[in-house]
Amino acid sequence: MRRERWNDLILVIFLLVGLGVFAAKGIALLEGFWYTPSAASTEEEHAASPLARLDLVERGKLVFQAGGCTSCHLARLEPGGPLVGFPVGPSLSNAGMRRDERWLREHYIDPHKLIPGSKMNSYAYLPKEELDALVAYVKTFTPAHEPSEEPTLSIPERFTREQVERGKALFSSQGCVGCHMIGKSGGPIGPNLTKAGAHGRTDDWQLQHLKDPLSVYVIGPTEGIPWPMPRYGHLSDEDLQALVAYLQSLR
Ligand code: HEC
Ligand code: HEC
Repeated sequence: MRRERWNDLILVIFLLVGLGVFAAKGIALLEGFWYTPSAASTEEEHAASPLARLDLVERGKLVFQAGGCTSCHLARLEPGGPLVGFPVGPSLSNAGMRRDERWLREHYIDPHKLIPGSKMNSYAYLPKEELDALVAYVKTFTPAHEPSEEPTLSIPERFTREQVERGKALFSSQGCVGCHMIGKSGGPIGPNLTKAGAHGRTDDWQLQHLKDPLSVYVIGPTEGIPWPMPRYGHLSDEDLQALVAYLQSLR
């Protein structure tokens, strides 16, 4: 009887120690590397840890992936790579050109301060080095990260070729091309739209975004918030539909 109790006790201690080690390793893993704190670790040893050897941008990529950014954003993890993620917030294509480092850092720490009613969560809990790395990584989201191949038009059945042609003409005449790249031409202020039809946006989203861009991202009043994408609510319904048809056909 006694012996069995001892066995139970030893088993419980083993389990607790095991759990502790597992949790510690888990946390270390979350930080992107196996790190065994030890009082004896020298500077040299520390410099040899895998994370220390990665440069800032590479580190930022790990923080970006661990931070779940793609659960709300479309982004290219590698230059020219595919857009991955979910379009809850804006696509991060070209985000490095739209935003300066100070804005990015402040937005991670306190999104509500910059965009009242922001749906983005705060990353204020990240250590300073990880915030620096994240800023450096997102600053690389520039046209260098975008594909340069020409777009292919694949017109969904709900649109006519006429609408798409009209939308294409409007894209130039309304100045969209000044901010957006399609294929090899266009400006670098907004996201690359070469594959706009594959961004996972619905027709309603595209229409609403054209009328009032900020309204698709932010809850609550939006007056007075600077937003780089202009409103096109003054265009006729036919023109707006034509633009949506063109955008949704870009694949
Ligand atoms: C819960 C969803 C969510 C998560 C997770 C999230 N974001 Fe956001 N993000 C948003 C939304 C929504 C916006 C639009 C503006 C706002 O509401 O703040 C935004 C805006 C941004 C912008 C500005 C984009 C622009 O148009 O210039 C950047 C940059 C950004 N997020 C980066 C990140 C990074 C990096 C991470 C991960 C560390 C992240 N976000 C995680 C929802 C999210
Ligand atoms: C002054 C620069 C500017 C002009 C002009 C402009 N845009 Fe934008 N556009 C942006 C920026 C910046 C964003 C990213 C923020 C956002 O999504 O609202 C954006 C986002 C978009 C998106 C969302 C892409 C995605 O899936 O995340 C679409 C689609 C778009 N623009 C289409 C257009 C069209 C069509 C026109 C012309 C009728 C136009 N834009 C004119 C700057 C501009």
